Amino acid sequence: MSPEADAVLAELRPYPEDGSRADGPVAVDATDRLLLDEAAGLIARDPDGVVVIGDRFGALTLGALALGARDVRVHQDAITAEAALDANSSRASQTLRDAHARTAANAPVPREPGGLSFTGRDQLEPPLLAGARLVLLQLPTSLAELTEIAEHVGRYADPSVTLLAGGRVKHMTHAMTDVLGASFAQVGASLARQKSRLLIAREPRSDVGPLTYPVVTRLTDREILDALVPPSALPPSALPPSAPAGLTVVAHGAAFAGATLDQGTRFLLAQAHRWPDLSHAPFAPVTSALGPDYLDGRPVAVDLGCGTGILATVLALRFPGAHVLATDRSAAACASTAATLAANGAQAAVERSDAGAALPLPDGSADLVVLNPPFHDRAALSTDAAHRMFATAGRILRDGGELWTVFNTGLHYRRALERAVGPTEHIAQNPRFTVTRSVRKVLTDGSVKGR
Ligand SMILES: C[S@@+](CC[C@H](N)C(=O)[O-])C[C@H]1O[C@@H](n2cnc3c(N)ncnc32)[C@H](O)[C@@H]1O
Repeated sequence: MSPEADAVLAELRPYPEDGSRADGPVAVDATDRLLLDEAAGLIARDPDGVVVIGDRFGALTLGALALGARDVRVHQDAITAEAALDANSSRASQTLRDAHARTAANAPVPREPGGLSFTGRDQLEPPLLAGARLVLLQLPTSLAELTEIAEHVGRYADPSVTLLAGGRVKHMTHAMTDVLGASFAQVGASLARQKSRLLIAREPRSDVGPLTYPVVTRLTDREILDALVPPSALPPSALPPSAPAGLTVVAHGAAFAGATLDQGTRFLLAQAHRWPDLSHAPFAPVTSALGPDYLDGRPVAVDLGCGTGILATVLALRFPGAHVLATDRSAAACASTAATLAANGAQAAVERSDAGAALPLPDGSADLVVLNPPFHDRAALSTDAAHRMFATAGRILRDGGELWTVFNTGLHYRRALERAVGPTEHIAQNPRFTVTRSVRKVLTDGSVKGR
């Protein structure tokens, strides 16, 4: 690595973690360094047409710019990763400008340093890759996500493209090489260094079929069929033939559970008959400065961490008179949810946001929140997002509003739910999953009962 790039990387910090936890993520890992070392020569020869995918905290993007790359295009699935890149870009901006100027002055063919910028694109779509000649990728953990990325690079990048895909050796499998081999004629591997390794793919294949993702499936699981029926309606067997006979799910590669019904979500849906009945408007309007959209007296239901949007779609079809909002930090999840809603003729707003923090909802305005929280962040076990989602639910629920959560029984979330939302009861439990109902209770002094 050049001293200039090293100086930039030294300024980066994990986000939002402060790096103080010994086992917490580091801002620049061995895979980032291996990718940048391999990329350095390629960038020196051709500083344009660099695309970065899956940057965790900005090391690849800012490192590539420090190495002399110009106008880097970036795709990060998680909005939290985008925030990390933005924060680190501000933090390291002066060092980066100096590094870029020096690198450009020392380039084999001297050139102006201009173009020190990156463009974030939140969709994995052809414009991200048009003309790309070097793609740097932090390998995702899911093969489906890798397939969608590899197919996009193979089809839409420049035919001369080199894809450098790096990961921790312990997370890499032969299947990843096979996935790249389906889109590229040449796939090789680097030597391992500090427990990281690169897969290097070249020569996009022309003998490929249509894109694999998004995949579309029709789900007819009993729990979905029953939950789709509005509470006041007849049982599904007595409904007319026009009633929905299932739910179409659309899933991009990075979306949780693909186009299937997750077992935890299934268990939550099985309790839908006990969810509050939102079919009977009007509810008391909420007063807020945030705008009129959610203040019209219609009930409000939220799918927090929506994945492919199965819960949001069920909410929208079960309660056609309600405002439904779905949110996830993942771009693939939000795109999948929007497509799932459209495929079922359901209406809901979809918002990409970290733990629902940016939902356009006034405090105390939601009647129902459904939540199947994450317990992984990439390959690491993490309940941090779940706790932040509980806090969001506590903020947006109205007095008496309900949070319905499903989680792995071993996680014992009940006390955290009581603190963040209010009195919480176990509604159903099996060896794998627990479903709870937390009722928002605001005391006259504004504090929450159960705290
Ligand atoms: C267990 S999945 C549930 C997905 C979907 N609700 C379902 O039931 O199939 C958890 C979801 O939370 C999302 N997620 C993880 N961390 C998040 C965060 N910090 N903010 C918002 N969503 C997050 C993941 O992308 C994933 O889609």
